[in-house]
Amino acid sequence: MKVVSELAPARAELEKLARPLGFVPTMGALHAGHLRLVEAARETCKSVAVSLFVNPMQFGPQEDFERYPRDVESDSEKLAQAGIDLLFAPETAAIYPPDFTTFVDVGKLGTRFEGAARPTHFRGVATVVAKLLNIVRPDVLFVGQKDAQQTAVLTKLVEDLNFTTRVEIVETVREPDGLALSSRNAYLSGEERAAAPTLHAALQTMLKEIRAGKTVEEAREAAAAVLSPRARLEYLNLVDARTFSRLQTLRAPAFLIGAARFGRTRLLDNLWIWK
Ligand code: PAF
Repeated sequence: MKVVSELAPARAELEKLARPLGFVPTMGALHAGHLRLVEAARETCKSVAVSLFVNPMQFGPQEDFERYPRDVESDSEKLAQAGIDLLFAPETAAIYPPDFTTFVDVGKLGTRFEGAARPTHFRGVATVVAKLLNIVRPDVLFVGQKDAQQTAVLTKLVEDLNFTTRVEIVETVREPDGLALSSRNAYLSGEERAAAPTLHAALQTMLKEIRAGKTVEEAREAAAAVLSPRARLEYLNLVDARTFSRLQTLRAPAFLIGAARFGRTRLLDNLWIWK
């Protein structure tokens, strides 16, 4: 595995890689969910590149940018073991030089749900991924289903801006008790960790109720009752998988999406409904 942090050497190394080239963008703090993305890339691509960059532009001023878990050494070891070809780990100044001013505005999709809770988040995600796609020029971009709205934003970004990369969405990896893997799970106290899987259980209940013919409102009530009293629910909703506009009846492809706080930690989860 080659490790590069500057743009020109990164481009030179990327040029040498066999095609198709799979790309997994990450912010580090790698867990089995990220490694599943790498595995999916290895299954279908001849070469795999991973980026490790904690993108300041996707964090709001009161968010956890400073305390976001960082462990570059352990991440590099995991990626070397996973058999990737290139790790691109740039410094902030390489991605955002002091005179940087151009951003990608993702429109309405970026203002709903996660975008309402985190107003500059998707603009930051879309901007950095557009830059990374221009730097890496992969054939396939691998993203995790856990961040459902991000998958919709990146699919739209690639379509709208005519990137030739194909987007591949990889199923969420879960702990045995159902908790979706996330770098932010590291923030949870013992009691919060015990309560956190109830977000997944709530989504499963909601889907069961909707499939049984209940309205979205009724299903949401039943789902909220399954959540731990430790959870502060932000939303549980049925949405169109591409636009993230709310659905009142089930029409695939859709996502059932949920967000809740456990202590100071805000967790997301979703169920993907394709039929
Ligand atoms: O999902 C993430 O880790 C980030 O949002 C991404 C796609 C690497 C962009 O910074």
